[in-house]
Amino acid sequence: MVTAYDATFASIVDAGGVDLILVGDSVATVMQGQRNTLGVSMEQMEYHVQMVASARSLALVVGDLPFGSYQSSISDAVHNSIRLIKAGAEMVKLEGGVHVAEQIRAISNADVPVMGHIGLTPQSYHRMGGNKIQGRSDGEGAGSKDRLLADALAVQESGACAVVIEGVPTDLAKNITEALTIPTIGIGAGPHCDGQVLVMHDLLGLSPRTFTFAKPYVQLREQAQSAVAQYVSEVQSGAWPDADHSFS
Ligand code: KIV
Repeated sequence: MVTAYDATFASIVDAGGVDLILVGDSVATVMQGQRNTLGVSMEQMEYHVQMVASARSLALVVGDLPFGSYQSSISDAVHNSIRLIKAGAEMVKLEGGVHVAEQIRAISNADVPVMGHIGLTPQSYHRMGGNKIQGRSDGEGAGSKDRLLADALAVQESGACAVVIEGVPTDLAKNITEALTIPTIGIGAGPHCDGQVLVMHDLLGLSPRTFTFAKPYVQLREQAQSAVAQYVSEVQSGAWPDADHSFS
């Protein structure tokens, strides 16, 4: 699975052969330049889902439910999931485990396939004190090893089709994957998950920063910047536009 937020890049990742395209609420950080994912609205997610869904041909489109769209009530969760399906998603994703089990059950009962997301859940930014690796502590508190296993089981038992495991130690992600029958999709969770997900901007080297859990397979930011610099220089020198790109 790879994220995409618009038609051009959706068609690229689709042609690249991914099984799923995630229209993630990471749109807030990578496209909108925000510090975290909390500010994205339902309208914005619908807009990005529409753009992606109109361009892909093979991959399944997963739409992220943004912060505030499912936490307050079960009916909000179902209503907003249906909005993303009407915009073109085929599955919705939401963050959390035990505490969103009822939402997952209700959305699934409305015939909307659900993907869970546990571990480092960026919508819990303030509770976690930033985007921090989870599953390193003992006890039963949020983010502890035992709690993450309980979260994963709750997500599965509530009817989710798959679950993203983000930002947890490799061994814990392995244990969770072995304990579940639904597929796990890892990001910063080591090699033992059933699948993997990356944010497209990290995969393509478009992000200004490189994260430990992300590998740029190409350096598009550098290449794009040098292409623009070459264009600027050719315009300034008069080399562009040349006769081949002009009309007689
Ligand atoms: O929003 C997103 O891009 C995500 C992935 C990091 C899993 O949730």
